[in-house]
Amino acid sequence: MANDGKWEITKEFETEIVETRVVQVEVVSSEETRRLLVDRPVSWIALAGFMGTGKSRIGWELSRRLSLTFIDTDKVIERVSCMRIGDIFEYYGEATFREYESEVVRRTLRLDEVVISTGGGTVMRPQNREMLKSRGPVIVLTASPETIYLRTRRSQRPLLQVANPIEKIYELLETRKEAYGDVAAFHVSTDNRHSSDVVEEIVEKLWLWQEQQANGPKGSLE
Ligand code: S3P
Repeated sequence: MANDGKWEITKEFETEIVETRVVQVEVVSSEETRRLLVDRPVSWIALAGFMGTGKSRIGWELSRRLSLTFIDTDKVIERVSCMRIGDIFEYYGEATFREYESEVVRRTLRLDEVVISTGGGTVMRPQNREMLKSRGPVIVLTASPETIYLRTRRSQRPLLQVANPIEKIYELLETRKEAYGDVAAFHVSTDNRHSSDVVEEIVEKLWLWQEQQANGPKGSLE
């Protein structure tokens, strides 16, 4: 029935509302469902810590656990420069490597839904620490010098190609202690632990960290 044209108008209006809702539901659903299905405390996480503390392994597992993308800054540098880290150190020197490293850190700030694994020396530059801390929680992984030695002795880490690597590990750990402490939202030990155990501890602490951020200024859990 025409009903002075009112019925059609109402009908059109209703259809539009229904259609708008359908469109809205479709747009929202892809992103929102993912967010709702994966209950995670944060969507940008960085891992820092000395060589051999397990950043790559734990970072990968953490990214799977929270449905995030895993990014290893050393791997990005190798891919972009088409060189191995050791060769960059050898042909261009450590200073050039550190420049690349800062540039990659800067670029990770624009990303979201990621776990970033940084190199062991990344946090030595105050500007890198500030950049990382400004974007999200930085988790510092730790391990004893002996564990670090055992985990790195067969690798080609340029800084550990010395006569006495264990001594070098002690020395570097001492020089870097303050920087790791400054950047850390919290520390997690990977010594003699199963990786899944470490990942669960990280997730628990991330929830606490997130709660703390919601209640107060950014800082460390420790
Ligand atoms: C370095 C650590 C390495 C790599 C480079 C320098 C460092 O990364 O970035 O060899 O200064 O501690 P990993 O911590 O992943 O081994």
